[in-house]
Amino acid sequence: MRVMVTGGAGFIGSALVRHLVLDRGYEVLNVDALTYAGNLESLRAVEGQPGYRFFQANICDRAEMERAIAQFRPDRLMHLAAESHVDRSITGAADFIQTNVVGTFNLLEAARGYWSNLEPDRAVNFRFLHVSTDEVYGSLGDEGLFAEETPYDPSSPYSASKASSDHLAKAWQRTYGLPVVISNCSNNYGPYHFPEKLIPLTILNALAGEPLPVYGKGENVRDWLYVEDHARALDMIAERGRLGETYNVGGRNERRNIDVVRQICEVLDRISPSNRPRHELISFVTDRPGHDARYAIDATKLETELGWRARETFDTGIEKTVQWYLDNEWWWQPLRERYAGERLGLVGQSRT
Ligand SMILES: NC(=O)c1ccc[n+]([C@@H]2O[C@H](COP(=O)([O-])OP(=O)(O)OC[C@H]3O[C@@H](n4cnc5c(N)ncnc54)[C@H](O)[C@@H]3O)[C@@H](O)[C@H]2O)c1
Repeated sequence: MRVMVTGGAGFIGSALVRHLVLDRGYEVLNVDALTYAGNLESLRAVEGQPGYRFFQANICDRAEMERAIAQFRPDRLMHLAAESHVDRSITGAADFIQTNVVGTFNLLEAARGYWSNLEPDRAVNFRFLHVSTDEVYGSLGDEGLFAEETPYDPSSPYSASKASSDHLAKAWQRTYGLPVVISNCSNNYGPYHFPEKLIPLTILNALAGEPLPVYGKGENVRDWLYVEDHARALDMIAERGRLGETYNVGGRNERRNIDVVRQICEVLDRISPSNRPRHELISFVTDRPGHDARYAIDATKLETELGWRARETFDTGIEKTVQWYLDNEWWWQPLRERYAGERLGLVGQSRT
């Protein structure tokens, strides 16, 4: 099995590459532009493995994508490369439109050219997995879950760009017959997560005794999934998902942001005590504009059709994650030095 992964140096992509190479024994070509979010240090575990190769390229460069695909001749293309941080999308949307929309279009076209010239027995087994987010569905009230049929209603430039790319992927399946499957997943957390996102930022600020910023009143609810559970789901969906279908991925772990931050404080106080309880560092800051109130995923289709189950609950996953950050300062310390943690995503700031 030869799998081309885009965005394999990112948070979820690197978990997927580690899973495919180490647990499944697949040959993997990781294609990644190495933006600020890409980090080859997250791939130390597969570096030097005979089945693993890295190619630095931008998915917006069609000729490079065609070359990568033609030379590697994948059985599967798993597309994760994206600009992924909502706050950055509010401050500067251009990169999000370019990578998430134009880049996905390029990749679909490059894959279509390759697939349409494959021998029939390989063409029939080829899969293009488009990896997306539950944020495309917009915001829920207190009740209900996002199902695969929930209408798209994105709120941020990030989710709007992902929604656009999902529509393109679906259209390439319906119009050209490209064997596309789509996944929409809830918020991930776990090892190797870039320290601008809520969970790693909270862990590292708490360790350093720095303020723990919580947007608004911290009442926004997210449905958290441990990243390795997501990686296994993506592998299953690419292998056995039905063509043209969407699969929602989520761990049934709804938490308010404030409760996530408090739980991290409790875990840290227990396993790495300090002289002051960490929850005293919590500081409420101006809310994110257009901040969706609640996300929650109904993963029944993935569970019943493909037999996937999340292995981690939030309690077990957050414990592992906090411990990982305590044990792996070599990974995050250079990022903390380069990334000052400047607040982004307030209307009025502009980078475009
Ligand atoms: N993080 C989440 O909670 C979450 C949840 C559901 C879905 N997703 C989706 O999963 C995918 C991966 O998310 P992540 O959190 O790992 O993101 P990430 O920001 O950690 O990683 C993105 C990777 O893509 C690469 N990249 C960015 N632009 C590129 C370009 N133009 N060409 C080639 N490579 C490029 C970056 O270098 C980086 O390695 C994204 O498509 C995202 O929308 C994320």
